[in-house]
Amino acid sequence: MDLSVTIAGVHFKNPVMTASGTFGSGKEFEPFIDLNELGGIVVKGVAYEPWMGNAPPRIAESYGGMLNAVGLQNPGIEAFIKDDIPFLRQYNTNIIVNIAGRTIDEYCRVAERLQTADVDMIELNISCPNIKHGGVAFGTDPDMAEKITYAVKKVSKQPLIVKLSPNVTDITEIAKAVESGGADAVSLINTLLGMKIDIHKRQPVLANKVGGLSGPAIKPIAVRMVYQVTKAIKLPVIGLGGISTGEDAIEFLLAGATGIAVGTANLIRPTATMEVLKGIKQYMKQYEVKDMGELIGVV
Ligand SMILES: Cc1cc2nc3c(=O)[nH]c(=O)nc-3n(C[C@H](O)[C@H](O)[C@H](O)COP(=O)(O)O)c2cc1C
Repeated sequence: MDLSVTIAGVHFKNPVMTASGTFGSGKEFEPFIDLNELGGIVVKGVAYEPWMGNAPPRIAESYGGMLNAVGLQNPGIEAFIKDDIPFLRQYNTNIIVNIAGRTIDEYCRVAERLQTADVDMIELNISCPNIKHGGVAFGTDPDMAEKITYAVKKVSKQPLIVKLSPNVTDITEIAKAVESGGADAVSLINTLLGMKIDIHKRQPVLANKVGGLSGPAIKPIAVRMVYQVTKAIKLPVIGLGGISTGEDAIEFLLAGATGIAVGTANLIRPTATMEVLKGIKQYMKQYEVKDMGELIGVV
């Protein structure tokens, strides 16, 4: 059976990737799984300068998932290039760098710096607040989403995946905007904005008050959005949101995703990506599926 897929001209030995921010740069997972088995590693969001992230508490559990307001803590692009790329390059897997910024210019500087770095793709996280626009997330407005995609694409050497925010009324509008901005692929979904209150202290659990909801609780929303987006645009789609088993991944593939990513499940079981991969193979064997083309977008 052939599990390989091609996304924006990049070959993946299988469609299983890691979701940004839930797998670091892979080092913590190396004792538990063989990183060579992954189709790709999407690293934690990296900005031009180091970011401290938000004050604690910054994660909280909820039914079927968790809330996080880590605030994109990261060491900055120079430290990432120096420490993480050589580690990742030891493995036979695609390296996808998730990039963050507070202004279009900040994002562009990260993509520019990556021009000479040995990485396979860039993933543009447009869920960050645009500080020049009153803190509205880039990915919640079609014009801003198109503008940032266009600007970053212009300075990117590697194929550009744009990661969509689900905190919008019509996800297809944003998907169409980034397609016209020149994206090579899209990934979805990022976390859904949520809140948890400590009823005894009568205050929000997270210091940031609100945070992003992830995990199995968001899966039906993610499947719906992947389905809608694959029907609305021509770009390849990477689906994620609540995937923790092979069956979950198959749903996303049938909905139209060419690749999938495992996020919060990694924090519960460090072997989650391997279980998802095994589950996909089992399903293919059970239904005598020979290659991924027989599954992608069948629904
Ligand atoms: C702790 C944590 C940190 C995250 N950091 C990032 C990030 O740096 N960049 C990004 O684009 N998404 C980030 N995400 C979002 C995930 O990549 C993913 O889109 C989301 O969690 C939904 O998938 P899941 O339900 O499988 O976790 C983060 C999620 C979590 C839980």
